[in-house]
Amino acid sequence: MLRFIRFLSAIVILCLGALWGAAWLWRGEGESVTDAFVRRIAGFSGPEGSVAPTAGAVAMPPGVTLGGPFTMTDSKGRTVSEKDFAGRWLVMYFGYTFCPDVCPTELGNIAAAMDELGPVAERVTPVFVSIDPERDKPAHLSDYVDLFHPRMVGLTGSIEQVTEMARRYRVFFRKETRTDAADYLMDHSSFIYIVGPDGKVRTVLKPQSAPATIAGALRNQLRNL
Ligand code: NI
Repeated sequence: MLRFIRFLSAIVILCLGALWGAAWLWRGEGESVTDAFVRRIAGFSGPEGSVAPTAGAVAMPPGVTLGGPFTMTDSKGRTVSEKDFAGRWLVMYFGYTFCPDVCPTELGNIAAAMDELGPVAERVTPVFVSIDPERDKPAHLSDYVDLFHPRMVGLTGSIEQVTEMARRYRVFFRKETRTDAADYLMDHSSFIYIVGPDGKVRTVLKPQSAPATIAGALRNQLRNL
């Protein structure tokens, strides 16, 4: 019996050691090993952070941070970066203006969620990021975002800038290979991102989230300030 208890203790110590090692390896930028260790242990019992899990949200693996720095061109033709949005809550979607159905539906849902939020919506900026910068020039993008919401910001850029921003948000996009090049479609992932005032993604919502779900997720974040 004593041997068995010793054996069990050894296993527990080994497991904790392995967790500590994992915490050391995968701790976030500027995060202490202890914090990362606590976060890893907490990760086994539920989602991290003080914000209650949001209905319709995609669980992000612990330690994964989406968002961060970018340099793009807005629909007025100005160069903008994440610093221009610092201190604001964003509801962000990646797509393209020539998208026949999915993008307009998603942007319509985001706009409806903004209406549903009421006065609180003033603290939120809807952002549409083009993954088709070849065709989505600022002037065209400007007309498009205005169709959905008066404060919606359109972002585009060089293909390198767009690729880099998409990488930071883990957005997949690819031009569909067809022969008639002028009228191509884009394949792209279709998640909705709620970005905090620090430029980091707080919640990722599934494609085709209803306006009430998007509004609920925003309210959930804004309440926890
Ligand atoms: Ni689309």
